[in-house]
Amino acid sequence: MELLSLIRKKRAGGELSAAELEEFTAAVVDGSAPDYQLSALLMAICYEGLSYAETLALTRAFVASGEQLSWPEAQGPVVDKHSTGGVGDKVSLLLVPWLAAVGLVVPKMSGRGLGHTGGTIDKLASVPGFRVALSQGEIRAILADVGCVVVAQSAGLVPADKRLYALRDVTDTVDQLGLIAASVLSKKTAAGAEHIVLDVKCGSGAFFKDLARAREFAELALSLGRDLGRGVACVISNMHQPLGSAVGNALEVEEVLALLAGERDQPDLTELCQILGALLLTAAGRTVSMDEGQAMMEQALAGGAVRERFERWIAAQGGDLAAFRERHRDGYRRIDVRAVNGGYLRGMDAQRIGELARGLGAGRLTAADGIDAEVGILCRCKVGDAIEAEQSLAELVARAIDPRSDRDLAEEYVAALSFGAEPPEVKPVVLDVLLP
Ligand code: URA
Repeated sequence: MELLSLIRKKRAGGELSAAELEEFTAAVVDGSAPDYQLSALLMAICYEGLSYAETLALTRAFVASGEQLSWPEAQGPVVDKHSTGGVGDKVSLLLVPWLAAVGLVVPKMSGRGLGHTGGTIDKLASVPGFRVALSQGEIRAILADVGCVVVAQSAGLVPADKRLYALRDVTDTVDQLGLIAASVLSKKTAAGAEHIVLDVKCGSGAFFKDLARAREFAELALSLGRDLGRGVACVISNMHQPLGSAVGNALEVEEVLALLAGERDQPDLTELCQILGALLLTAAGRTVSMDEGQAMMEQALAGGAVRERFERWIAAQGGDLAAFRERHRDGYRRIDVRAVNGGYLRGMDAQRIGELARGLGAGRLTAADGIDAEVGILCRCKVGDAIEAEQSLAELVARAIDPRSDRDLAEEYVAALSFGAEPPEVKPVVLDVLLP
């Protein structure tokens, strides 16, 4: 295929036809398109954009580029959730078993963390024995037994996105609405869910820094969902500060375990999950209103059904929670970050906090990097909190061999915070909801 002519056309502001986008996708998958030409086309798309027709055609071509799953044997409505990526975003860890506990079926494919945002697969992999790669037979058996399963994206599902996403990551061409929408919606469509909810993160730690851009993305996703025959709803959620308090793989699993055991409350995390769940329950016809959906979600959590489902799910995928609870963090330093002065915590730069966690070893700079499941950050204060001098702001878990001093690391954390004498306006965790 003459990829050069597509680059030329897009560079000049032209619109690519569905046939051209199909050819382009085929050349991505069969390997005939070299990385340098793909990168040039991606950059041209970033400058010139994609029309709605192009975005839809690209999404369809992505879906058709690999296997497409269906779940005819499912014993309930098949649903899925996707996050555009955040800091401390452990929603899937809690929401997936929660959805199963209220009768929905969740066959979920998740990604690994990249950049300053974490990934569900890395978090789950911190539980000893947890298997993130399962055969189709195993996935179906666990779904029938537990109602939910989370596996790493299989190589056969939207292979075009797999190659292009890796290229986008290293050419700084991730941040384009049409490319993000095609990437997300194609994966969710190919994975076969009837009802999909997107958690569109908005704020300093997200792709979408402001509400207008997050809404633009959400509206695009809703339109694509309609044209692809899937019910897509979007929640725009607050990423102006980390979600919950833990940032880091094992730390986030610990936070969810503590929440399920009733030992620690994380109101922002719980509220977001309840709303995402209520949207799916209502879309699937299990409840007639959001209020009823939220009440059903609340009941499942309070009655212990979510905890029970979480434990069954982790065990079904080989995870050993007893071993997880008993492990020791030998070889790590715990650094208590304390406030110098009193005042109000007015802001947290979630991206900076995510980058600090990544620098400690919780995330990767390139897809080939390894991670350290144990390191990370426990944010002890959230935006709006009144702080006293000497109060603990956070605890950092760093490798003993980290060359930086405790003081330098603590200073990096404090640099991500802003303080003032007046209390700030505290934004809610859910900023907007867009229905199909
Ligand atoms: N998440 C995805 O799956 N794809 C993107 O392009 C961005 C976020």
